[in-house]
Order: sequence, then structure tokens, then C-alpha cells
Amino acid sequence: MASSLAVDLALPKKEKYEVLGPQMKALFEGEENLIANMANCSAVLKEVFGFLWCGFYLVEGEQLVLGPFQGPIACTRLFKGKGVCAAAWEKNETVIVADVDAFPGHVACSSSSRSEIVLPVRNKKGEVIAVLDVDSDQLNDFDQIDEHGLEAIIKYL
Ligand code: SME
Repeated sequence: MASSLAVDLALPKKEKYEVLGPQMKALFEGEENLIANMANCSAVLKEVFGFLWCGFYLVEGEQLVLGPFQGPIACTRLFKGKGVCAAAWEKNETVIVADVDAFPGHVACSSSSRSEIVLPVRNKKGEVIAVLDVDSDQLNDFDQIDEHGLEAIIKYL
């Protein structure tokens, strides 16, 4: 059953993440379909933080394929060895890019994107099955608060 969020949008981002964590856990626990939960996750992140773009790319063989997202239309396929999403996938670690123009091979789905954070989504064996990509139209918009806050959310997916 759908439920509404209780998040004060005036809070600083650290507090927003703290308030969101348990609510996202409860939201995801009510549904076991990964795509449905990724869709709601994207919607919540967009609504609460107003990111330019936020969503998932799903691992499919040697490629990442566009999954649930919120924001402008995006590249449908990304490839190993090129871009921030592929880097997070291949390294199996979070990548924060303060200035996308300074990241060699950055894939510019939107010309408005200035900085981004990409986190791996892992299965129970620790394998990367998807990535969460969050883009901002501001330079240097992501830090460890986002890393820890987003990690705390996607671990419940
Ligand atoms: N910038 C990403 C591509 C995805 S879009 O930003 C939505 C990358 O370099 O992998």
C-alpha cells in the first residue's frame, strides 16, 4: 500500500537523510519487487532533495541499462570503461564527481549536469546489480553526507 512521506523539506540535508532512512525502509519492506522500489526511491529523492536527475541503471551483461528514474530523459545504455556510472560499477564503490567536465569519459546525458554521485547497488553476495546515479546542476554538490545518506537508503532496496 502506498504511504505518504513525512519529511520537512526545510531541514538541512543531513537531517533529511536521517528522517528518510526509516521511512524508506518501511516503504521497501512492503514490496519485494526491485523495480517498483527503485521507482519509488527515485521519486522520493527527487521530491525531497530536488535533484536534477536521480535514478538507476541496471547491470545487463557488459552494459548498464536505464531503469527507474526521475528527471530529463537519459542515455538508455552505458558501457564498461566509460563514464561515472561504469566506474562505480566496475570498482564496486561510490564515486563522487565534483565537476563532471573534469572527469575523463563522463557521459553527458544532460548538458545541465555539473556534479554527480554514483553508488553501487549490491545483491546479498555483494555483486553489483545496479547503480544509483544522482546528478546536480550545481558544481561540487555532493559529499560524504550524501554518500552515507544514500547508502543507508539503497541498502533496504
Ligand atoms: N553521467 C553518467 C551517465 C548517466 S546520466 O548522467 C543520467 C555517467 O557518466 O556515467
